[in-house]
Amino acid sequence: MVSGSASTELLSRHTTFHLGGPAAEFVTATTEAEIIDAVTAADAAGKDVLVLGGGSNLVVADAGFPGTVIKLATTGVAVETVEGGVLVTVAAGETWDDFVSTAVDKGWSGVEALSGIPGSVGATPIQNVGAYGQDVSQTITSVTVFDRELREVRSFTAGECAFGYRWSRFKEVPGRYVVLEVTFRLGTDGETGSPIAYAQLAGALGVEQGTRVPSKQIREAVLALRRSKGMVIDEADHDTWSAGSFFTNPVVAPEDVPEGAPAYPQPDGTVKTSAAWLIDHAGFKKGHGNERVSLSTKHTLALTNRGEGTTEDLLALAREVRDGVEAAYGIELVNEPVMLGVEL
Ligand code: EPU
Repeated sequence: MVSGSASTELLSRHTTFHLGGPAAEFVTATTEAEIIDAVTAADAAGKDVLVLGGGSNLVVADAGFPGTVIKLATTGVAVETVEGGVLVTVAAGETWDDFVSTAVDKGWSGVEALSGIPGSVGATPIQNVGAYGQDVSQTITSVTVFDRELREVRSFTAGECAFGYRWSRFKEVPGRYVVLEVTFRLGTDGETGSPIAYAQLAGALGVEQGTRVPSKQIREAVLALRRSKGMVIDEADHDTWSAGSFFTNPVVAPEDVPEGAPAYPQPDGTVKTSAAWLIDHAGFKKGHGNERVSLSTKHTLALTNRGEGTTEDLLALAREVRDGVEAAYGIELVNEPVMLGVEL
């Protein structure tokens, strides 16, 4: 276990916003035992704990974090062949996109549309990461966690995870569960490919929705689409100094969808509309903001740090956008990234 000293470890070095003050204590855990030891020790000492994966969905106070930050750095991918596919168990600290890239190279299917998403594997079940017609709930079979309340390692089946849109049981009590590893069931038909389940992706590939396309091609198309929206990390491009989508897409009653806004009917009769559209049409255009923080110049749903911004600057912009959308449409946008020591 490697411990960093208090004042030296700035959390801005660990978040994709490049924002956040110092951690009181910083621990890098490279094995599951180290994760559990670090969490147990911090809990016993009554310290606050932040479990850090890729830092891609996190807004940290400028004042930093007064407790213990545990950086997940576990590695390992174990493969078991099963009828019609493979069960792949991945350590929480593995980089998500490295796993997707490996899966595509091996001819596996099921996660290729989730290419280019920043962050760690362990973070993906927490908010049921999704994009371009796939989300991890479609392939996860189980999630192994350390339960800080019961102080034991537990395994949840996919059904027990209570996955929803950007939701799972792991969000019910934030911080209670520390993900240790995730098992995915992937197809071995990557070469034939999976049916395209997202209109924009079908359009980019020049095929009808539902057509099977090899995983490799899907990955390439998704990476190109995400890049065009500034949603693939590129240190040289401030449009990617973000947490991806800053707000979730609101789910509302059909009569509350504004005229002209995208509308995706949900099985329960509600309708999911587009936060990006609401922001845009409430008058906040791409690039809206100032020289420190602004909406991405490529997508209105990403708030970005232009280099010199602070978390307070970012929150001021987020409040302006949220309040402007509420005033224009009566819909309250809810932040997607986790807030640490700050509130909207
Ligand atoms: N739009 C605008 N202005 C913009 C951009 C988009 O008006 O600047 C409108 C358009 O009408 C567009 C609609 O918003 O059709 C939706 O935009 P897009 O297709 O880019 O998808 P999104 O709803 O903004 C969601 C996810 C993304 C995911 C993409 C692709 C959420 C909150 N976001 O974005 O996930 O990559 O779909 O599946 O569900 C993330 O969660 O961090 C994330 C990037």
